[in-house]
Amino acid sequence: MVNMEESQRILERRKQFVPNAIGIFNPSTAVSAKGAMITDADGKEMIDFAGGIGVVNAGHCPEPVVKAIAEQASKMIHCSFNVASYDLYMQLAEKLASLFPHGEHTKVMLTNSGAESIENAIKIARQATGRQAVVCYSNAFHGRTMMAMTLTSKVGYKLGCGPFAPEVYRVPFPDYYRYGNGLTLDDFSDKHLLELENFFHTHVPAQEVAAIVIEPVQGEGGFNVVPKKYLQRLREVCTKYGIMLILDEVQSGFGRTGKWAAYQHYNVTPDISTWAKSMGSGMPIGAVIGRADIMDACKPSTIGGTYPGNPVCCAASLATIEYMEQININALGEKVGNIVRERFNAMKQQFNCIGDVRGLGAMMAFELVKNNDPFQPDAELCKKLISYCAGNRLIVISAGVNGNCIRVLSPLVIEESLLHKGLDIIEEGLRTLS
Ligand SMILES: Cc1ncc(COP(=O)(O)O)c(C=O)c1O
Repeated sequence: MVNMEESQRILERRKQFVPNAIGIFNPSTAVSAKGAMITDADGKEMIDFAGGIGVVNAGHCPEPVVKAIAEQASKMIHCSFNVASYDLYMQLAEKLASLFPHGEHTKVMLTNSGAESIENAIKIARQATGRQAVVCYSNAFHGRTMMAMTLTSKVGYKLGCGPFAPEVYRVPFPDYYRYGNGLTLDDFSDKHLLELENFFHTHVPAQEVAAIVIEPVQGEGGFNVVPKKYLQRLREVCTKYGIMLILDEVQSGFGRTGKWAAYQHYNVTPDISTWAKSMGSGMPIGAVIGRADIMDACKPSTIGGTYPGNPVCCAASLATIEYMEQININALGEKVGNIVRERFNAMKQQFNCIGDVRGLGAMMAFELVKNNDPFQPDAELCKKLISYCAGNRLIVISAGVNGNCIRVLSPLVIEESLLHKGLDIIEEGLRTLS
């Protein structure tokens, strides 16, 4: 029987037993989920535009994935890959290497999460180069473990957690919306690349930099897309100085931008890349992918762990990727992206509070500002819009260092009518609130 107060009760219990600091991005509750719908604790059906923070590109509980998990769980849940080798790990590594070749010979290390992928990518880059410094970007988000948090930009995510890891340097992200100042995108990229070369004279010598780490499309930072010329030239800069280019695809990978990797839009190949989220449909699994010579530069036992590449997670990931191939996840990403972009652009025409619409493929967001000024973020309106949507059965979350962007990370299998219904709710919310 449906109890109308169950959601409230769950939120109260959360307050009682769970630390307040664990973020509540949305006031909804959840009991079950399928496709692009979540059923809350009161039996209400909600359209899901958050996708578990970009984790369920292939939808909630795809049948082949559920089956693969159940079958593997009945055979072997865990033995630790360090203790006994099992082929599922190699099957997944081989699949990932074929989807994401990093040169002629690619090797893959499995992890449990995005942050763990980042931690290991840095350890690998340092060992491969014998250098210490790491360069990262403003507005970046790479996770909450200590090195990942150090690399993360938003101060609000780090309060009181220092001291942070040493030898980390931050350069400005090429943020065209705020700092484009009428330049063409190519000239803007050139300007930033010149500043980077200058940075090597004023902050840290290029010869001491092990890695530059960048998200091709910043996720938590507000869906800022790296300009094409910038990433292509950054690749050249890294090659010139022997710096490892690490591309963080944790949020942008697996069909989200209409390709398996967002970097495939740029015709660049990273030295190392990091993955997690949608590769396991919600099972905790991630990966570090890299050129074999780089991955093999690590000394024994400096990378690994008890759980990484757990058999059940490997089975879930293999089934997810196979299912994604069957349904052509990239075509779905492109289709969803086109619809959202068109609708967001139309909303921008109607509502002054939308300062920018941006993204790549189905990684789309709009930014809410006051007085049409990129430097006056309207986080208050963003919060109200999220609450309005939750009250109208749409789960949506924010992004941006100022928390003023509405982002869409819906499952890519979402039916077109449902996608429009969700977008109608956002539009109606903007009309009501602005
Ligand atoms: C680009 C990026 N890197 C790393 C992470 C950290 O991943 P996890 O939360 O799985 O540790 C995230 C999470 O949102 C992310 O978006």
